[in-house]
Amino acid sequence: MSDISQKSAPAPEETLEATAEPVTVPDPLDEAAIGAAVEAALAAIAAASTLDELKTARLAHTGEKSPLSLANREIGGLSKEFKAAAGKLMGASRGRVAKALAARTEVLEAEDAARILVEETVDVTAAPRRRRAGARHPLSTLQDRVCDIFVGMGWEIAEGPEVESEWFNFDALNFKPDHPAREMQDTFFVEPPEAHLVMRTHTSPVQVRSMLERELPIYVLCPGKVFRTDELDATHTPVFHQFEGLAIDKDLSMADLVGTLEHFTRQMFGEEARVRIRPNFFPFTEPSAELDIWHPGAKGGPRWIEWGGCGMVNPNVLRAAGIDPEIYSGFAFGMGIERALMFRNEVGDMRDMIEGDVRFSEHFGMEI
Ligand code: PHE
Repeated sequence: MSDISQKSAPAPEETLEATAEPVTVPDPLDEAAIGAAVEAALAAIAAASTLDELKTARLAHTGEKSPLSLANREIGGLSKEFKAAAGKLMGASRGRVAKALAARTEVLEAEDAARILVEETVDVTAAPRRRRAGARHPLSTLQDRVCDIFVGMGWEIAEGPEVESEWFNFDALNFKPDHPAREMQDTFFVEPPEAHLVMRTHTSPVQVRSMLERELPIYVLCPGKVFRTDELDATHTPVFHQFEGLAIDKDLSMADLVGTLEHFTRQMFGEEARVRIRPNFFPFTEPSAELDIWHPGAKGGPRWIEWGGCGMVNPNVLRAAGIDPEIYSGFAFGMGIERALMFRNEVGDMRDMIEGDVRFSEHFGMEI
């Protein structure tokens, strides 16, 4: 027997083979001893229930210090006449072990793959946790629609401040300081009183701002928030939205006003829609009118609905903005957006528009 202590150091992997037991090297010609080593190897391989356990069995039974490997090495020291028989026995024995190992590896790898498939399954049908997207408020959508119709006619969109000087909100619009019309609109005054600031009570001050800021002719639409000291109930809110229209040009007449409103109304309510004006009073228009629209799709059947005010711009207002009323004339109109949403989209209670429940908005979608 050769001296096994001369063997080179085991590969790192082989150190797993730390079976402390001193190994008795079987004789490579001893069929019984080699057969027992093979049986021991096959039993260990069959008993391995994981790839790790199989690796341990492999190192113990086929590693450098395993009985079969050691016996195999003995062949080299045998005399010529025994070499062939020993080689045949060892080759066949080691072959059986290798075959059993390969078969068991295949089984355990398949089991492993199946286990990983189960363990690492991602349930793609599970509902993801998502932040709700919210929805556009129908007042915004409707306001955009109004703007689109006027932009389609070549008008521009104008804006003005919500905290407005009393001068723009009243004086420049021909409300005299002691005029009872000032009381027509219950105003939020902004402190201190000497600043003469108000929360604008209508979008009409933008008429004057537009006339001061823009070149003539003027065709502007101004949507925005307005404020009045109303109590909140089903048909009133202290903050609401209007849109103001203003056209200043040469030779504009009441016919241009009505024609414009007719076109706009049909775009909003369908081809069957009509407009009707009834005499009224506003300090900043002369003549002034109340605007009714024939709403063909009204809930409960077609009918006339009061919607806003309009008229020819009062010459005093043109003068206040530095425009010569002998050369230019103009018309103006103002309507409420909440009110339109109520009769156009059948909202029964204004409070639903301001409560902020997203389900109210979602119900209208992106196009109304
Ligand atoms: N500003 C008026 C209101 O709020 C409406 C209006 C606008 C009337 C333009 C005439 C012309 O009641």
